[in-house]
Amino acid sequence: MTRTVSTTPYDDQRPGTSGLRKKVPQFQQTNYVENFVQSVFDSLEGFRGKTLVVGGDGRYFNDVVIQKVIRMAAANGFGRVHVGQNGILSTPAASHLIRKNGAFGGIVLSASHNPGGPKEDFGIKYNVSNGGPAPASVTDRIFAISQTIDRYLTVDAPDVDLARIGTSNVAGMTVEVVDPVADYAALMEELFDFQAVRALFAGGFSMVFDAMHAVTGPYAHEILERRLGAPMGTVLNGKPLPDFGGHHPDPNLVHARHLYDMVMGVTPPDFAAASDGDGDRNLVLGRGIFVSPSDSLAVLAANAHLAPGYSAGLAGIARSMPTSAAADRVAEKLGIELHETPTGWKFFGTLLDAGRVTICGEESAGTGSNHVREKDGLWAVLLWLNILAVRKQPVLDIVREHWTEFGRNFYSRHDYEGLTEETGAAIMARVDGQVAGAGGRSFQGHGVARADDFSYIDPIDGSVANHQGYRVFFDDGSRIVFRLSGTGTSGATLRVYLERFEANPAEHDRDTQEALETLIAAADEIAGIRELSGRTAPTIIT
Ligand code: G1P
Ligand code: ZN
Repeated sequence: MTRTVSTTPYDDQRPGTSGLRKKVPQFQQTNYVENFVQSVFDSLEGFRGKTLVVGGDGRYFNDVVIQKVIRMAAANGFGRVHVGQNGILSTPAASHLIRKNGAFGGIVLSASHNPGGPKEDFGIKYNVSNGGPAPASVTDRIFAISQTIDRYLTVDAPDVDLARIGTSNVAGMTVEVVDPVADYAALMEELFDFQAVRALFAGGFSMVFDAMHAVTGPYAHEILERRLGAPMGTVLNGKPLPDFGGHHPDPNLVHARHLYDMVMGVTPPDFAAASDGDGDRNLVLGRGIFVSPSDSLAVLAANAHLAPGYSAGLAGIARSMPTSAAADRVAEKLGIELHETPTGWKFFGTLLDAGRVTICGEESAGTGSNHVREKDGLWAVLLWLNILAVRKQPVLDIVREHWTEFGRNFYSRHDYEGLTEETGAAIMARVDGQVAGAGGRSFQGHGVARADDFSYIDPIDGSVANHQGYRVFFDDGSRIVFRLSGTGTSGATLRVYLERFEANPAEHDRDTQEALETLIAAADEIAGIRELSGRTAPTIIT
């Protein structure tokens, strides 16, 4: 049945982001969800009779949108929908299901690490047949169509019972409610040495995994506690809740501070980890240490061959531009390719598909490999466990040895959240002006070697991404990067990424913020953050 609807324009949707992310009340406007989903379907060709994977992180409004998507998929001519039981699918599990079933694509409902609830965040993202986020060519088309859409297609059908695993029919389309964990857990068993990790736990190794009342709870209970034999209680907050228990499901040192306090405390566990709302991010800590995501990527890359899935070695490593260069040193030593891409997982897709890289990572707690086309929080945790089981050393020793071998990249990200869009724009304009004439100048004793506005040409498909952040490189090998967040739902967030390389092991135990002190001051001098925003400190330091 065709229903004609009034247009809901998406004026403020940033084209190029891989999905639509807004507050729940915006999604609740009449026909808003329908218009976006129809815009997605209208942007695609050739899906008649094909399979669509649908699932989400269980946040508020997930259940309502899933039923709408199922009805619209039927009306638009999909042949089959695979949907996670109770509407649950982690982002990496959805990516795997798309690939495993040869699906045409998938719709993932999540606002990642942002809070959930009636007044909080929601999101809809479209993934393509390789299991990864839609590239800009697709999202641009979706955006363009959303500007002029004047009808959507749906059918009159009762809600599908998502609690029951099994097959049903919606207006001629098959709906298969699947166990969200089973296929994903099987994939993890292929990649990692579960026997070795089981022996590790049997030997008394202690771990805490905080699922933050988000999507990884069921996955972690099954994999860590049931299949790997970690004691019951290893998984905290394992029940997905629509409001994540009122917390931010963001595994960083602010929202998962308790894990940091645990590993630094009097009776610390050997290992602690967490994942975000939709299960693609990871936080990794060991007794006495927080492993920065940039370091984690480098350590995982250097040791991946210890896991069965990577025993043949890596084809290459890719990291996002703001991620530290720690992984570059590993790639150099291994004699493999290193790719520096713009922020956002979608840029890794072509490299992974072409077999040019095996492992990818972002400084924002995202790590993953060619096993899916999204970053994968539990995958990172399991690779760490596999490495710990083989090396039989504490996390702290492994990281220290890594720094001794490769040098240490002191690294930190300073976020200024909740700026007005004007302030964000003013700061970037200031940086832009400075970058133009920065060569040869000096800030807080750091001489500028070169500076630019990062552009990327995809080596596989030739697509170009401009204005991906300002980079200032200094003579001493340090670097500062400035960019505005592209994922926020209101105002502007400025991200300042600070990095300094230290080869001397005697200096490796320094406090990160202290080691970066003069660079932090240089960043303010370049961008005028205090002056233009009135802020005296970042909102979040990672
Ligand atoms: C942030 C992270 C980025 C990540 C994205 C989606 O984007 O910085 O690395 O890919 O979330 O999880 P940003 O808000 O910085 O644009
Ligand atoms: Zn996420």
